[in-house]
Amino acid sequence: MLSSQLFIILPLFLLCNLLLLDLAKSQTFPDCHPHDKKILLRIKNHLGNPSSLSTWTKSEKYCCALYHGVVYDLQGRVSSLNFYDIHDYHGTIPTFLDRLPGLVDLSFMNIPNLSGPIPPYIGNLTNLISFSMVSTNLGGPIPDIISRFNNLLILTMSDNNHVGPIPRFLSQMSNLTRLDLSSNKLTGQIPAFLGRLKRLDYLRLSSNKLTGPIPLPLVQLTNLNSLNLSSNKLSGPIPDFIGIHLINLRTLELDSNHFSGHIPKSLGQLPNLQSLSLSKNKLNWPIPKSLGLANILVIKLAYNNLSGDASFLFNKNNMATFELIINNNKLKFDFSNAGLGRLVSFNISHNMIYGSLPEWFGQLYLDSTRIVDVSYNQLCGPIPNGRRFKRFGPSMFAHNKCLCGGPLPACK
Ligand SMILES: *[C@@H]1O[C@H](CO)[C@@H](O)[C@H](O)[C@H]1NC(C)=O
Ligand SMILES: *[C@@H]1O[C@H](CO)[C@@H](O)[C@H](O)[C@H]1NC(C)=O
Ligand SMILES: *[C@@H]1O[C@H](CO)[C@@H](O)[C@H](O)[C@H]1NC(C)=O
Ligand SMILES: *[C@@H]1O[C@H](CO)[C@@H](O)[C@H](O)[C@H]1NC(C)=O
Ligand SMILES: *[C@@H]1O[C@H](CO)[C@@H](O)[C@H](O)[C@H]1NC(C)=O
Ligand SMILES: *[C@@H]1O[C@H](CO)[C@@H](O)[C@H](O)[C@H]1NC(C)=O
Repeated sequence: MLSSQLFIILPLFLLCNLLLLDLAKSQTFPDCHPHDKKILLRIKNHLGNPSSLSTWTKSEKYCCALYHGVVYDLQGRVSSLNFYDIHDYHGTIPTFLDRLPGLVDLSFMNIPNLSGPIPPYIGNLTNLISFSMVSTNLGGPIPDIISRFNNLLILTMSDNNHVGPIPRFLSQMSNLTRLDLSSNKLTGQIPAFLGRLKRLDYLRLSSNKLTGPIPLPLVQLTNLNSLNLSSNKLSGPIPDFIGIHLINLRTLELDSNHFSGHIPKSLGQLPNLQSLSLSKNKLNWPIPKSLGLANILVIKLAYNNLSGDASFLFNKNNMATFELIINNNKLKFDFSNAGLGRLVSFNISHNMIYGSLPEWFGQLYLDSTRIVDVSYNQLCGPIPNGRRFKRFGPSMFAHNKCLCGGPLPACK
């Protein structure tokens, strides 16, 4: 809905730009509603005329489509208002926002000294479809005034100082499609009631202090594209239902938690999964073979306690995976017959991988986007040399059983 509005607005914006070039006609080009323009200027004044709003001028020559962060609809009413990168404002949310009747999208981003409380009148903005407060100094619990936004589809309250649990009122906001509460100090468990938000396609609760397991009712979030729970203190197993029921997942990030047990085989059956990050947990047992057959672009399983064979992740017929990060585990397999496939980056360091380096090593070349590290394993034999190989340093081969040649001392 938002984007379709933007499609309507964009041509208007271009038109406005063109007309601006033709200053002679400045009387005739479409401006936003004079009432809204007046309110915007009052808001600017309330904010202390910050330098980042210097495009907000009274001048008749400028239509408010050229105002930084402002979009208006075909009726000339301000529909989207995005305040961002305001470093010279110290205070609360400005007044008068409720006098913009067309407002559906409101955001405050990167305003480090914007603090609470959220003024009560904000609860009257019941037409909002999207509300975001990002990188502000807002603290306390996630404010429940948000529960009055009956039409809200997108809620982003990230990188603030919110504390307390994930608020109960969210269970009523069943129209939400995106919910981002990341980078706060939220505590408690992931509540079961989030399972009622069946339309969610994006759920990000990362970088908080959440504890406990992933609750079973999340099985209902079958529209999820992206689930990011990384950098919390979550524990228990990674539930099987993620791979079986959340079939629209494209990115799954559960890294930097306390998850234990095995990696469910079902994750390899997610048809759209592109990025899987389970690093820095307490996962053990061998990696399921299904991950070698899936078309996952990025696989990160580092810093766990995974054991056994993982040679199937180096499959010359795997034309999907380009990044494979599995360092610091207890993997133990023969690397001699590993295939490269489409791999650009891989880190297998700090494992118990043995055998020799395959011939294709000699064809690898290094640039700033590539990570290659086989150090701290049990590898042995000559390092295959090649034309483009010269830029590799010795550290990526260090601490193996008996690798030699290339950047290491010559073989005997
Ligand atoms: C904003 O807060 C920072 C500390 O978080 C402080 O150093 C800075 O002076 C404040 N700026 C204003 C305009 O109050
Ligand atoms: C919200 O709107 C109602 C009805 O329009 C009005 O009576 C009330 O004063 C408003 N509340 C605030 C806090 O502005
Ligand atoms: C969800 O959206 C519909 C249509 O916009 C609306 O009628 C309904 O009240 C909303 N539901 C909630 C729980 O806000
Ligand atoms: C997931 O969350 C982490 C921590 O907040 C962040 O670094 C990472 O970029 C997020 N991933 C995506 C795809 O947004
Ligand atoms: C790692 O896994 C092994 C079994 O494979 C188990 O004996 C050991 O306790 C695990 N270590 C940790 C730190 O979980
Ligand atoms: C590979 O992982 C190790 C940790 O075991 C890390 O120290 C190293 O920097 C990584 N290699 C590269 C090239 O990023």
